[in-house]
Amino acid sequence: MTTSKTAVIVLAAGLGTRMRSKLPKVLHLLAGRTMISHLMETVDGLDPDEVTVVVGDHMNDVSDAVSPFPTAVQSERLGTAHAVLAARDTIANFDGDVLVLYGDTPLITSATLEAMLEARASLMDPAVVVLGFTPDNPGNYGRLFLGEDGVLDSIIEARDATNEQLKIGLCNSGVMAIDGKVMWSLLDRVGNNNTKGEYYLTDIVKLARNDGRACVAIEGDEDELIGINSRIQLAEAEAILQDRLRFQAMENGASLTDPTTVFLSQDTKLGKDVLIGPNVFFGPGVSVGDGAVINAFCHIEGTEILSKASIGPFARLRPGTKISEAAKVGNFVEVKNALLEPEAKVSHLSYIGDAEIGEGANIGAGTITCNYDGYLKSQTIIGKGAFVGSNTALVAPVTIGEGAIVGAGSTITKDVNANALSVTRAPQKSVDCWAKKYRELKTAVKAKKNK
Ligand code: UD1
Ligand code: MG
Repeated sequence: MTTSKTAVIVLAAGLGTRMRSKLPKVLHLLAGRTMISHLMETVDGLDPDEVTVVVGDHMNDVSDAVSPFPTAVQSERLGTAHAVLAARDTIANFDGDVLVLYGDTPLITSATLEAMLEARASLMDPAVVVLGFTPDNPGNYGRLFLGEDGVLDSIIEARDATNEQLKIGLCNSGVMAIDGKVMWSLLDRVGNNNTKGEYYLTDIVKLARNDGRACVAIEGDEDELIGINSRIQLAEAEAILQDRLRFQAMENGASLTDPTTVFLSQDTKLGKDVLIGPNVFFGPGVSVGDGAVINAFCHIEGTEILSKASIGPFARLRPGTKISEAAKVGNFVEVKNALLEPEAKVSHLSYIGDAEIGEGANIGAGTITCNYDGYLKSQTIIGKGAFVGSNTALVAPVTIGEGAIVGAGSTITKDVNANALSVTRAPQKSVDCWAKKYRELKTAVKAKKNK
């Protein structure tokens, strides 16, 4: 770490027109979390002395997303230099290093930001350190012009560049570390004489060079620096982030049979010796304990799965669910806001909502907790060791006592005492030889008709 103080300005006022969305660009999700939250977590990790996020007018949802970090408002969107100036009131007298980050470049790591600050602290005392990268497709990124001595001379936006200049592969990621002592004076001199008529932050490099100051570019990794301006780039960034999360999960001791088909959220917690089959989706708020197995094709959100539990294949676990140690949720089972105590089993084709299933209880195939009467949700409580036969409707609120047995095909509307048997099905009638006589009769009728 350098000894200089650090301020961070995050630019997030852009509308993100190229996203074609009503949602501000930085609120689009990556791994189940907004772009801006990813970036703010990285910023927080740096422990800077000052932070300001520049937002547009009426962007309260962005301010909420970055809270408790303070925001400054850029009412008119006149470009990235104009956006940085909006933070002037908040950090005007700051003379340390100022890191400017773009809200639409959320995959950057704190190690890279620290490398930027190290470069700012180098003997050459550069006024501006720019983070460059060499993307496979330089497209619309600004191009970095290096002088013969390797120092950075200027940045040209793709729109304003000649065909010859566009051949340069080294691009601007947008991330800069700037000498706070000269930053405002440089920004005050940025003009808008360019194709877009905007005040470009990138112009401060040329201005600093004209003042006789050095500027440098350091090169980072494309996987951290992709700028998200369109849905296509959002999907590219998601793919990069998913690879990162899968890699971490495997490093931490989980096995992913077919990693590229497992979707993780930023906050997914997987223990050691967890086995994840192909095509599993983890939404936000999921933790999986050591040795648990998640079979193929499960969709899981807001759920705590404890050690050695077994889930799926084809299970859906919804928010508020806790699956305790060695409990089992089998195929085509949906569980919502429910607790399965240790070793409880719901093995096939069930809906368990707003319920508690006691330790070791067995819930038969096709059991449904009828938790909603069209107005209110109600609870189903099933005691330890109870056995619920297949195709049973449990009309909540209802309690099945410990060790009770419910006969298959029942519709249970009243509480069942511990160790009792409860059955509601109609009595079974049998008529001996009826089937044989029926077949003989029908065969005779058909033969007569065919003649
Ligand atoms: C910008 C850079 C380009 C770089 C690319 C990297 C400039 C002029 N261009 O282009 O050199 O290669 O990022 O991804 O800086 N914003 C505001 N207020 C504004 C305009 C933008 O807050 O008035 C914010 C946006 O919300 C966004 C960031 O600044 O987070 C960058 O703006 P964007 O329009 O995406 O710039 P690019 O065209 O991507
Ligand atoms: Mg951009």
